[in-house]
Amino acid sequence: MPELVIGTVPRGEDYFGQEDLIDNIWAHLKKDNVLLVAPRRFGKTGAMYKLLDYPRDQFIPIYIDVEYINSAAEFIIELIAKLIKQGHFMRLAKEIWTETKKFGKFLRNLPSSIDFGGLKVELREKTDVQKKWLDYGEQIKLLLTKERKPLLLIIDEFPIMVNNILNKDYEEAKQLLHWFRSLRTAPDTKARFLVGGSINLVSTLDYKGLVDTINDIHIIKLSPFSEKTAKKYIEEIFSANGIELTEDVKKTVSETIGEPIPYFLAVLLSAIFDKVRVLQCDVTPQIVKEVFDEDLLGGSTSAVFLHYRSRIDQYPYYSDCEGRSAKDILGILSRAEEAVKRDTLYQVYLKTCNLAPGTQSRENFMHLMNKLGNDFYITSGDSTYSFFSRVLKIWWKTHYGWK
Ligand SMILES: Nc1ncnc2c1ncn2[C@@H]1O[C@H](COP(=O)(O)OP(=O)(O)O)[C@@H](O)[C@H]1O
Ligand SMILES: [Mg+2]
Repeated sequence: MPELVIGTVPRGEDYFGQEDLIDNIWAHLKKDNVLLVAPRRFGKTGAMYKLLDYPRDQFIPIYIDVEYINSAAEFIIELIAKLIKQGHFMRLAKEIWTETKKFGKFLRNLPSSIDFGGLKVELREKTDVQKKWLDYGEQIKLLLTKERKPLLLIIDEFPIMVNNILNKDYEEAKQLLHWFRSLRTAPDTKARFLVGGSINLVSTLDYKGLVDTINDIHIIKLSPFSEKTAKKYIEEIFSANGIELTEDVKKTVSETIGEPIPYFLAVLLSAIFDKVRVLQCDVTPQIVKEVFDEDLLGGSTSAVFLHYRSRIDQYPYYSDCEGRSAKDILGILSRAEEAVKRDTLYQVYLKTCNLAPGTQSRENFMHLMNKLGNDFYITSGDSTYSFFSRVLKIWWKTHYGWK
């Protein structure tokens, strides 16, 4: 039975449901490389670990989290270190690098007991990878084409790394992205790549004129739980905790959460269990509502909400006027009882950006609404829009709904 996991990566049976997503990723990896997109805390890393822990089709998966990397050389060092630590690739690496005398010797002399951190230090200090990262990158390409078993390289938070490098050195980012594209599309390669991240890679690269460096990647948007999976999850988690679940409570939990984003659900369930343990009472719909108001909108979840808010200012793909109107539009949506008409929001956009109505303004407005949709802020109906997540909507209304 699954146990509640809050904030850390759910693995094994704690990673609940999402079978269709996992099947879909594997199906695409047969031919394509995949970009997995969703905001923070949607379950991207959980999905990636599922592929890592239960590989299919003979893939040898390697997982790298690159959120804290801010140079191309560090990325190559990370990659080489992972390949070396994966015994399978070490053999081939030795073969390939025998010709590079110094590096070949470095590999042969590596103590087998060296840990991952130590290995990276050695690579930084005792080799010329840092200086010649692109040469080493080319050799990695060779290594991957020679390998009989296919590598599945899973790169988590890739867009954040790209953004870090872009902010520092545009040319370096460009070189890295072009090399990475050539690695993915090398004619004989069997390797596949799954990259994922919480910020919008396509918009970021589009804004920087580099979108052609990722146009070979198939995009999969990670959806939250379906209603059915959410109900099953609630049932199993109650059962695993030995707490009785009435139909009323199940219904209230579902309605309160709205779109069943697993993290919000997990936080709510955990807070409910804490409360009834302290009060020594049964779970009632009233308790669910109280916990939602008191605990969910503050506490540990606030970092996630803040991420949605600050992302608009931090990432350059929302221009100044787009960022300001996005916040105004989200403010209005957060206060609205029902979905809001497109035209109403268009007027807000024109006013905030100080624009006259016209074809171009209309197009730019639609472009902004698409971005907000792709970044999981809103969903659209029949010429209307509303917040994607009820939880985020209420948080937004509490903090920014006054404007
Ligand atoms: N399939 C799932 N089953 C159970 N919990 C999940 C699932 N997906 C996400 N979660 C919840 O969301 C949190 C964040 O998951 P994670 O994979 O780290 O997301 P991301 O990488 O998108 O930030 C987990 O700690 C857990 O509470
Ligand atoms: Mg993650």
